[in-house]
Formats: sequence, C-alpha cells, structure tokens
Amino acid sequence: MNMKTESKIIVALDYSSESDALALVEQLDPAQCRLKVGKELFTSAGPNFVKRLVDMRYEVFLDLKFHDIPNTVAKACAMAADLGVWMINVHALGARKMLEAARAAIDSKQSSTLLIGVTILTSMDEEDLSEVGLKGSPEDNVLRLARLAQSVGLDGVVCSPLELKVLRAELGADFLLVTPGVRPTGSVVGDQKRIMTPGEAILNGANYLVVGRPITLADKPLSVLLALSEEICSMS
Ligand code: C5P
Repeated sequence: MNMKTESKIIVALDYSSESDALALVEQLDPAQCRLKVGKELFTSAGPNFVKRLVDMRYEVFLDLKFHDIPNTVAKACAMAADLGVWMINVHALGARKMLEAARAAIDSKQSSTLLIGVTILTSMDEEDLSEVGLKGSPEDNVLRLARLAQSVGLDGVVCSPLELKVLRAELGADFLLVTPGVRPTGSVVGDQKRIMTPGEAILNGANYLVVGRPITLADKPLSVLLALSEEICSMS
C-alpha cells in the first residue's frame, strides 16, 4: 500500500542504474515527495524496481510517454496500473482513439492510477512542428492537445512553467498540471531554459512539480526537498 503524501514535489530519478537511484531514494522520505521513473531508469532497472519503490511506500510517476496504436497503448497502461504506480502518461499526439483506449484500460482495472497527457515536447519549436506537419505555434498546439486530453477524460497534462497560466485558465481548476523546469530560488539552472521557482509555478496553477538535479545533485537531498516544500507551503 502506498502512503498518501500531500507533497507536490515529484523527484525525477534520472539515473542509469538501480543502485544509483536507490542511493538517492534511501535519503528521501515517502511522506515528503513522490518519485518519477523515466525511460532511462526503467529500461535499465525494469518493472521490478518500480514495484520495489511502490513497496517502499513511494507514489511513483511512471514517465514512459506511451505512443502507439490504441490496443498496444491500452495494454501497456493496464500493465503499468498493475504495478501500482500513482501516475502514468501518454502522448496526446497519439490522437483520440488512443487516448480513449488508455482511459478505458485504466478504468477497467478500477485503478486509481492517474493518466496524464504529454502535449508538445518543450524541445520542439515552430520549425520542428511545421516539419512534422503541425501548423501554428507550440503554444497553440499545446492548448489544442490539452483540450483533447481533457475531452477524453485524462486527468491532466505535463506542461512547461510558461504554459501554466493559460492552461489553468482554459481548462479549469480540476485538471492536473504537472510541471518540470522548476528551480529553487538561487540554484543552478543547468540546461533548463524555461524555468520558474516552485512558488511561482504553484501560484501560476501547477498541481505537481517535477524536480531533478536540484535534489539529486545536492549534498543533502532531503534538506533541499524540505526547503522546496516550505517555499511551496508559504505560497499556498
Ligand atoms: O534535473 P531537472 O530538474 O531539469 O529534471 C527535470 C525532469 O523533468 C527530467 O526528468 C526531464 O526529463 C523532465 N522534463 C523536462 N522538461 C520537459 C519535460 C520533462 O525537464 N519539458
């Protein structure tokens, strides 16, 4: 059973090995954060490691961004739900039928796993979109795909800090917005270009913040996590 945490912080376990990831996880606390397992760690450590995190009472966001034919995505979502993860995601560009199949697969398991959409990757600019046949700005496409995700009954979308205000205004209070690109005040920015502090992101409408290197590279990861949580609390 997962321990329910109120924490809005999801720590990104961007590691290539189970042992490196565990070294960090053992310094954290499931009452103080959730964890994100992405393609790198999942490919290296596999579903048993995800189950291990769940058994350690962490709520896990399995960030595998499924995108395939509806039947395949539905089956992958069902398997993810069986792992007991808290949240999974699919590409909204997979289109309505794929999103409906993903939704139905989770619902048929009577699972509480949250299903989140990915709209346009922040690595894509207008030229990239045009080259793959998508007209308009990244912002236009993000909003259109987020509306599609909402209309199919997904629980929310992943979005950049700069998209928060518009999406919150357009999609209402109940749609989850999960936001990477968050940096504590005064920290090293790294390769993130569109950043906000945790407090700003929450004020702009984020429900959950994905934070990687500010925590994973810290000498005292739990202290950084607690400082971030405090900053968020003071804003809420
Ligand atoms: O280390 P950092 O805090 O930049 O890590 C952010 C996490 O969020 C990484 O796992 C990264 O893959 C993910 N992410 C992101 N930007 C996006 C989507 C996801 O940084 N647009």
